[in-house]
Amino acid sequence: MTPPTAGARPGRNRLRREAVAARAAYVLRSNDVGTMTTAAPLLYPHMWSWDAAFIAVGLASVAVERAMLELDTLLSAQWTNGMVPHIVFSPESDSYFPGPERWECSRLAAAAPEMPETSGICQPPVHALALLRILEASEAQGGDAGQAAFLDRTWPRLVSWHRWLATARDPEGVGRVTIHHGWESGMDNSPRWDGPYARIEVRADLPPYARKDTAFVLDPGERPTDEEYDRYLWLVEEMRRARYDDAQVRASASFAVEDVFFSAVLAVACEALADVGAHSGMPAAEVDEQRALAERFRRGVWQSVHPDTGLARDRDVRTGEWLSTDTIAGFAPLLCGGDPAAERRLLDVFESPEWCGHPDFQVALPPSTAPGSPDFRARQYWRGPQWPVIAWLFSWAFHRHGWAAHGDRLAAEGLELLARGEFGEYYEPFAGEPLGSSHQSWTAAVALDWLNHS
Ligand code: SER
Repeated sequence: MTPPTAGARPGRNRLRREAVAARAAYVLRSNDVGTMTTAAPLLYPHMWSWDAAFIAVGLASVAVERAMLELDTLLSAQWTNGMVPHIVFSPESDSYFPGPERWECSRLAAAAPEMPETSGICQPPVHALALLRILEASEAQGGDAGQAAFLDRTWPRLVSWHRWLATARDPEGVGRVTIHHGWESGMDNSPRWDGPYARIEVRADLPPYARKDTAFVLDPGERPTDEEYDRYLWLVEEMRRARYDDAQVRASASFAVEDVFFSAVLAVACEALADVGAHSGMPAAEVDEQRALAERFRRGVWQSVHPDTGLARDRDVRTGEWLSTDTIAGFAPLLCGGDPAAERRLLDVFESPEWCGHPDFQVALPPSTAPGSPDFRARQYWRGPQWPVIAWLFSWAFHRHGWAAHGDRLAAEGLELLARGEFGEYYEPFAGEPLGSSHQSWTAAVALDWLNHS
């Protein structure tokens, strides 16, 4: 066989990149139902809060006005107290459980909108990152009046979203956001929540329900267990009974945990929002408020670090105990930055054979749980698989905090995985097999962003 000439390689590589971009754009286009892009066609037929932000990041590469529309749709469902709900329900589908009839937010919650229907909890606040990417893309194209108007309506919404998190979810100012459901972390069944969930008593008056997720994922072993679902639904029931009132939920919820990953995202999101505001002449007091919040949550994240392992920890508010787990959340300080020497040490761990650099992994992306941990399950959701969207978040943060070469490496590894086939929800790390739902929007979105920035 004739070996390929040196000159043939760049051309082939370009074609391969174009093919990935075309397929990724096709996934986003196919999941577009008008003013929202569903998180995935079958399993997740609605808009999820942090999915929408990552989707907007990807859309910014190919259709900046459509990216703006995605954030507009999400933020038009913002509650009057400032909370951005974790699901905005599309009226087109009833194939997801728990749907609006289970949450009943428009009937029970004083702060919820009448329409659209939403869930009553939130998710990590990655939206300012999307705003930043959208403005970068728009300015690269010369900017226009649409950009200024978009910024004018998005700025106050994100300011009040961050302010709600800082007040309702960190009323004592410790610099860490308290969550009241594992779903709020986005990492539903991570070992991070095993301890707090184990203490939850599911009462006999939990209204009956039937799961729908396992109808779409053929191997139920890739999803949370029925026992876990009982607890998820019980927590929803508690919030319903508290009518989603912030103070009541804080007082009565059986799940109350300071989420260090969420808090690191908030810190860097406040900083990104402050940068946007300073650049575009937003009120100085609001820009300063965002900078102060960034500092407060960054401090809270670093204070959680275990002195021996260097890994960040969550904290159970109900028992007061720190929760040490070998999960991706340990690397939260790398998302918010703030101590280059400690970040350097943490980066070494992140890239070591215990984590991304495991010799049997197909690609060097972060696993959701360390493969050496007794809690590791290679195929089960947040207990082991690699999630390209999380790798993207770290690659973006590495660029921001001066670790660009490390960010580029993650992008290259991520594209290596995604060039192989479909855009899975998550991946079994030893075989690189896509798992969960297929045609997952946020996976396609991060592929587009990586292609556009590498
Ligand atoms: N991730 C959850 C689910 O699997 C909801 O946010 O349904």
